[in-house]
Amino acid sequence: MDQLAVLICFTVFTFTTADDAVNTKAFPKDFKFGVATASYQIEGGWNEDGKGENIWDHLVHNGPFIIKHNDTGDIACDSYHKYKEDVRMLKDLGVNHYRFSISWSRLLPTGFANKVNPAGVQYYKSLIKELKANGIEPFVTLYHWDMPQPIQELGGFLNDNFVDWFGDYAELCFKHFGDEVSNWLTFNEPISTCQQGYGNAVKAPLIHSPGIGEYICGKNMMLAHARAWHIYNDKFRSKQKGSVGFVVDSLWYEPSSNKTEDVHAAEMKRQFVWGLYINPLINGDHSTMVKEQIARRSKQQGFKRSRLPEFTEKEQKYLKGTLDVIGLNHYSTVLVSAQEKPDPSAMGFFVDCEANEWKSDDWEKSGSDWLRVVPWGIRKLLKWIKDNFNNHKIIITENGYSDREPKLLKDDRRIHYIKSYLSNIRDAMEKDGVNVIGYTLWSLMDNFEWTSGYTEKLGIHHVDFNSSNRTRTKKSSAEFYKKVIATRCLAEKCTA
Ligand code: NOJ
Repeated sequence: MDQLAVLICFTVFTFTTADDAVNTKAFPKDFKFGVATASYQIEGGWNEDGKGENIWDHLVHNGPFIIKHNDTGDIACDSYHKYKEDVRMLKDLGVNHYRFSISWSRLLPTGFANKVNPAGVQYYKSLIKELKANGIEPFVTLYHWDMPQPIQELGGFLNDNFVDWFGDYAELCFKHFGDEVSNWLTFNEPISTCQQGYGNAVKAPLIHSPGIGEYICGKNMMLAHARAWHIYNDKFRSKQKGSVGFVVDSLWYEPSSNKTEDVHAAEMKRQFVWGLYINPLINGDHSTMVKEQIARRSKQQGFKRSRLPEFTEKEQKYLKGTLDVIGLNHYSTVLVSAQEKPDPSAMGFFVDCEANEWKSDDWEKSGSDWLRVVPWGIRKLLKWIKDNFNNHKIIITENGYSDREPKLLKDDRRIHYIKSYLSNIRDAMEKDGVNVIGYTLWSLMDNFEWTSGYTEKLGIHHVDFNSSNRTRTKKSSAEFYKKVIATRCLAEKCTA
């Protein structure tokens, strides 16, 4: 073959495979495309106009200084001042919805509902008004990791009164914003919140209580979600006609072989995620598999009762049926095998399941250690959710790709990621009948990536954190996503 023939052959081959691999069915007309952010990661204005201190403010200012380059969210993307510019970017993308979160301490500086900050109410009213004026539906998360510091000092999620305090805060949000907001999400990511914040101490509030604190956190989070749901249901739903969901963070857990013990270990992992957090909201209790596993290990360890606190019958009734929509944050997949000799004394979410997890070397890397590109994982996960939760309604609340380049505007790997994940979502809808109502890309722009500071970038707009302007620049992925939204199609041509 001469060189030209090789080139033609190669070109045809790469283009065809790239296009063939993609689902060519258009997304339904009412499928929602959006992007997401969160208050602490973008707002800045950390102590402006009466805002109170939250646990991330506290951590970045007082230490321990575990954030890359000692970065802070003091100014972040400065969205507290630049929200109109954010809405212009959203409008240009053509998104149907924007997922953002309310900073509890901006609204209630001490965390408690006796003292409302009028400037905080005004900020979110203005943002919501701007969104609606541009035809963008707000999806509002009530808690995206920025617990008011005074509530943390009383234990945060470990204090049973948290349920009341969160309920009061949620009610205030429904009252002030609910006439304009129909989509509420109570909590973002129980695993990151409870396991990383109250278990192995890698996120604020850095509490180290594996196997105990983290499970209490989960219990109170579930009850606080149910409280908010009931308040909405009893007092606001008939007039505001919205929905209240909860956002779970889940990888796909793929068995590393078809040996029974590895298949069982992968299912155990899934149950630790879904059985702890979603099962209570749909069916009223933790799933039996997790309850039995933690109870057995707790007994072996000499505890008088399971380290996983049980729900009373009354609580079970209160929890059951309080999930209008499942919010799913999904980024990646891991392989799972059964542990040959589980350590009987180990305690914690990540060890109680007696399974090992790792990433295959064959999977494409990203800018984050935890994120490998495994598009088929999302399809398997969606199918699993459908089968286990009676085809419950799902919205993808986050999905996205990270890099570590200072300014990568031609972000082809991100485009590849978005396209292949969306294609698998479309497959799950079309071929597996999964009830997915929307997709929310993380993130509208580069922002404060928690303990990684500004080093890991997941935005489809670049933000210049060295300029006081926080100049936003479009990346190629924003152009790509804009086209997907406009055409509802991933290929050059789609069928209806
Ligand atoms: C999940 C979190 O909700 C969000 O805050 C974070 O930035 C992204 N994942 C990426 O790590």
